[in-house]
Amino acid sequence: MMDRLAAGRNRPVRPPSSLAGIMNHALQPLREEHTTLLTHIEDIRAMADVAAEISPPLLRQGLDDACRFLRGQLVPHMRAEERGLYPRVGRLLGASGATDPMRMDHGAVQRYAEDLGVLKDRALMGPLRKEELKTLRRILYGLHALVTLHFTKEDALYFSLLEERLSPAEVTDMFRDMDIPNGG
Ligand SMILES: [Fe+2]
Ligand SMILES: [Fe+2]
Repeated sequence: MMDRLAAGRNRPVRPPSSLAGIMNHALQPLREEHTTLLTHIEDIRAMADVAAEISPPLLRQGLDDACRFLRGQLVPHMRAEERGLYPRVGRLLGASGATDPMRMDHGAVQRYAEDLGVLKDRALMGPLRKEELKTLRRILYGLHALVTLHFTKEDALYFSLLEERLSPAEVTDMFRDMDIPNGG
């Protein structure tokens, strides 16, 4: 019993999670960015559902939108995290390689984006064949699963850690490194 109490004293004191949310919203701009990006990720899943049924022009438009989103929004979001967020998480966790698994997720997203770009170009030359449609749907569902889990991990593990441990000035510095306007 005493051992457990002694061990408890050495643990960092954390407020109950319901209070933590009230006490620190410092990373709210990043949480909101995730929410916005996730609406597009849901569009990608919806396109996977209907890709084999919609007309080739509609599919081409959907592929164009998806590629523009990946290139113009999701990949820049990942690069900003690699510049400003992951190095700080690595320092707090005491190991520069601590965020490597998350960087590998980013690499996998990048490869999906490239594969999707190839299929988008292919669709410009004529309707996709059955096998190509299967590949397309696998890519779209894969992207959706990968990104939603990746965001969940960032929200639950990284954002909360930074909100607990960074000072307001350090959060401002991080947002500057990430080119994100400081919502606070
Ligand atoms: Fe990320
Ligand atoms: Fe993220």
